[in-house]
Amino acid sequence: MDDPFRLLHMPLGVPGSGRVRYGAAMQLYQLGVLSEAQLDVYRDASPHDRRDPAAMLADRRLQPVPVLPQAPADLLRALFVTAQDYLSGLVHPGQEEVRDGLRRCSPRERVPEARPHPVAERWLGPALEQAALLQPCLAAAIAAAAPHLAWISYDAYPRKAIGDSFAEGHAFAPIAGGEAPFAAGNFELGLFLIAPGVLYRDHRHLAPELYAPLTGPHGWRFAPDRPLIVKPAGEPVWNPSLQPHLTKVGRHPFLCLFAWTQDVTAIAEVIPAGDWPALEAAVIG
Ligand SMILES: [Fe+2]
Repeated sequence: MDDPFRLLHMPLGVPGSGRVRYGAAMQLYQLGVLSEAQLDVYRDASPHDRRDPAAMLADRRLQPVPVLPQAPADLLRALFVTAQDYLSGLVHPGQEEVRDGLRRCSPRERVPEARPHPVAERWLGPALEQAALLQPCLAAAIAAAAPHLAWISYDAYPRKAIGDSFAEGHAFAPIAGGEAPFAAGNFELGLFLIAPGVLYRDHRHLAPELYAPLTGPHGWRFAPDRPLIVKPAGEPVWNPSLQPHLTKVGRHPFLCLFAWTQDVTAIAEVIPAGDWPALEAAVIG
């Protein structure tokens, strides 16, 4: 019985999931677990991968189906699909490279071991409250999958160059590429989280990069010692290969989806600037 229950709760939005849920509902109906009226709901929802049978059951005043915990692989897949949908709808330089990379991703057979991180424990919740105002489905998919991701710090920068506040105030979680839950070749997709007020000093890397911020406003610049530009949540930032960039986080934590579209193993480097103390003291938003 475990398997049809698991399939019945396959996350919304996964391609083909409406039909999978209906197939599972048919098995559960034959076992006497679901009524004919409940089965009708799954049949009616089956052509629509995003239609929520739970809401339809409530609308028809039918008993809800027992909820079982979802498997991590399903939650990670739902996150990937939701992120791919969101990123594929953004318009920016480099959009074709991002879409090509996303199309090359495929789920691994085994989900890598999850790893908690103090920055994610402290700041992901507040960040998702803001992200839900912009993209509620994506925020919900992140919230569900986050405990199954391996959150890590980027440790390639010398501590003195990048500064203590960034070193101790950020975390990222690969979704695709490297050892992440999705294999991706020379492409990376992940979540990037920075605590409020932190300055991510000027830096650059060979990899072309998309930031898709889900919170804001935050400050940005694209050459050392230039004034900041304030950008809202939802505005994509494309950094061509080796373009300098800096982020000054506003009063909400910074949460974005990021993608590196090639040269993903080349390490990033800090670029010196003369105004970091003033920027570290500044307040955005
Ligand atoms: Fe970057």
